Amino acid sequence: MKEQDIDFYSLGFEFIETKTMFIAEYKNGKWEDGKLVPFGPFEISPGACVLNYGQGIFEGMKALKTKDGKIVLFRPEENAKRMNKSAERLLMPSFDNTWFIKAVKEVVLANQEYIPPYESGGALYIRPLYIGTGPILGVAPATEYKFIIFTVPVGPYFPEGFKAIDLEISKKYTRAAPGGTGSTKTICNYAGTMKPAKETKEKGYAQIIYLDASNMEYIDEVGTANFFAVIDGKIVTPKLKGTILPGITRKSVLELASKKLHLEVFERDISYKELFENSCTEAFCSGTAAVITPIGSVTFEINKRIFNNGEPGEITSKLYELLTEIQRLDINDEFDWIVKIES
Ligand code: PLP
Ligand code: COI
Repeated sequence: MKEQDIDFYSLGFEFIETKTMFIAEYKNGKWEDGKLVPFGPFEISPGACVLNYGQGIFEGMKALKTKDGKIVLFRPEENAKRMNKSAERLLMPSFDNTWFIKAVKEVVLANQEYIPPYESGGALYIRPLYIGTGPILGVAPATEYKFIIFTVPVGPYFPEGFKAIDLEISKKYTRAAPGGTGSTKTICNYAGTMKPAKETKEKGYAQIIYLDASNMEYIDEVGTANFFAVIDGKIVTPKLKGTILPGITRKSVLELASKKLHLEVFERDISYKELFENSCTEAFCSGTAAVITPIGSVTFEINKRIFNNGEPGEITSKLYELLTEIQRLDINDEFDWIVKIES
């Protein structure tokens, strides 16, 4: 799509083709440098490991415009590190973090006319995708790989924007089990969440809150975002125990809550039953796509808990403001999270 045909002020989270992508191959035991090419399809063997056995991982990042027109990334080193961890879990070759960040910057600059303006609140979503392309029959890692980075201009992930969403607590489905791949960003983690998401949307909920697979009691996360609650005025989030994606936004929210809002923060098991108690006053989810999305209500079977009359809570709103102000350099980047892209 040509950038002049895009209404940057009414974007949702849908695929829009941009001009240029980055592609690099791993062959004969080594990575090539990679290059920018026009966005488009490439050939892949029907025997490719990713097509047959799901050997693929991805990341999600955003390039934002600041008020004075600079282009910035949020903690890209963290995405590089997490992607290498995902690669390790699927026996895929590691890559250099500096190479990753350089490629991300190049592809953003090449698509800079697609970055939504500061005033629109939108972003250029960056999708690094790393797949096993070599053909394989027995279940084993590929010997050849492709690393692609493409971009899409986006608005809010949940169409509501910074409005509270309604979530369902489900005991019907799980997302990840101990020893599995829940803490990495493998493509297969997401395939299994489509049916639960469709079913809950049909009932009027934006998403499911997944519980831990062992006990069906403790909150894991929200399928595409991490979970937070405010309990007795303290910030709590499920502790990382191998089944939850270690969100970069999650980590940042924990720091902002403790260092800027001077709140006590706890990473611990949270029973879904705690959300129905009066001590729990706010809930929200966090992620690159979701940013900070307030949770207006949670429903388990016939029980519904509405938070703050379905409006964003005070602490949630403060955290949202702080995070987005730092991300767009409206306030000083005191944690050194922002990386500028210079042309
Ligand atoms: N959990 C899942 C399953 C996700 O897909 C995401 C998005 O990347 C997150 C949590 C939030 O992670 P981050 O804040 O790094 O985007
Ligand atoms: C992100 O927040 O970047 C994610 O990866 C969520 C995505 C699956 C929509």
